[in-house]
Amino acid sequence: MTEKKSIHGVWLGRWTFILAATGSAVGLGNIWKFPYMAGENGGGAFVLVYLLFIAAIGIPVMLAEVMLGRRGRKSPINTMKELAKSSDASKLWGGIGWMGALSGFLILSFYSVIAGWAVAYAVKIIGGSLLDQPDIPAQFGALVSDPVSTVLWHSLFMLMVMFVVARGIHKGLETSVNILMPVLFVMLLGLLGYAATTGGLGQAFTFMFKFNPEALTAEAIRSALGHSFFTLSLGMGAIMAYGAYMPQNESLGKTVVTIGILDTLVAIVAGLVIFSIVFANGLETAAGPSLMFKTLPLAFSQMPGGVVLGGVFFILVTFAAWTSAISLAEPAVAWMVETAGFSRVKAALAIGIPVWALGLVCALSQNILSDVTILGSSVLDFLDKLTTNIMLPLGGMLIAIFTGWVMRRSHVVKELNVKNFALFNMWIIVIRFVAPAGIAYVMGYLIYEWATKG
Ligand code: PHE
Repeated sequence: MTEKKSIHGVWLGRWTFILAATGSAVGLGNIWKFPYMAGENGGGAFVLVYLLFIAAIGIPVMLAEVMLGRRGRKSPINTMKELAKSSDASKLWGGIGWMGALSGFLILSFYSVIAGWAVAYAVKIIGGSLLDQPDIPAQFGALVSDPVSTVLWHSLFMLMVMFVVARGIHKGLETSVNILMPVLFVMLLGLLGYAATTGGLGQAFTFMFKFNPEALTAEAIRSALGHSFFTLSLGMGAIMAYGAYMPQNESLGKTVVTIGILDTLVAIVAGLVIFSIVFANGLETAAGPSLMFKTLPLAFSQMPGGVVLGGVFFILVTFAAWTSAISLAEPAVAWMVETAGFSRVKAALAIGIPVWALGLVCALSQNILSDVTILGSSVLDFLDKLTTNIMLPLGGMLIAIFTGWVMRRSHVVKELNVKNFALFNMWIIVIRFVAPAGIAYVMGYLIYEWATKG
């Protein structure tokens, strides 16, 4: 059989894939969400459960996703359709691709609004118009509650994303991750160096790693599971789409472990940096989603060189969010190119414009549309909860079930080029039993709670 290639292109090599997939994984999830979730859930207990989910469920599911992508060599929607067919399974399995593209669409709409705030902070801090304000935390409220500016920053971020997506795999995705990711790592290390000088690093370390079982609530476990999918970009096809551009002979097992470790390291370093600043300045660990936008800038305003440090920090967040957002759009854009025969530019517009429009609703849900709530949450928060806690874990569970129970085992073995069968069998056990049961248990609990809350 001749080697199958994706019509969209193939990454230059394994490291390009690693950078692109790490670019997808490392994002607002690592720098904005992870630290505040750890802060809200009492630190250590949450962090350890999160690490457990990453290792026991996240990385094995990621291997499944990349494997499916490379086997199918198409957008997740068409990949799932074809793989189901070649294993004589129902066409309905193609639904995994559809649900994934929809999740990406929904996530991108609110993701872009929050990323827009980060871009605004980078620009304002460097431009000198933020840190000199008398009441810094109030600046966040002022930005978010102003419909015009929050919409403009969201629109700017969507333009940045669609610009890269429209340029295609090589000129767009590859070039951007090759530049943005190394810069991101250097900036993060620089910030860690700074954190070591604050005198708060030791306390930050204890806060994040001291196991305090009393803080381990059902809520903490549930958020840790949803977040492990969100942070690794799993369950919606981003990693599957990127897997489709993976060169044929590269080892997938080693690759996904590298990505999982890099993503986790970035989250932990971001947490250490943020909590060092929090402790050194006597700020609140449980500040919630505003930790990054209120607490940190306050600290930046009080420290010498805060403009540089704050500027670097928010550029880092912008870069991280940018490479993630690109991957959120890729499954739907690649599908349009394949199925409708659109050029990349046309496909980027066809997806980007409706995502932008839904993003408008999310942006306005923080100000003029704040009365509109779904199940008690603003539109933005609702979309976050729906995708992170339900759609991604469900997608991950279906991917695990398809790989473990439906796809022909010989196809899996061939695509993974298995040499170590002991390790392979362990992975199969996780994919068939551990991952679906773990996800079902946590999700079942969520549904039970919803049902009984009245
Ligand atoms: N992993 C990204 C982050 O942590 C978000 C993301 C989720 C990207 C799902 C792609 C798919 O910010």
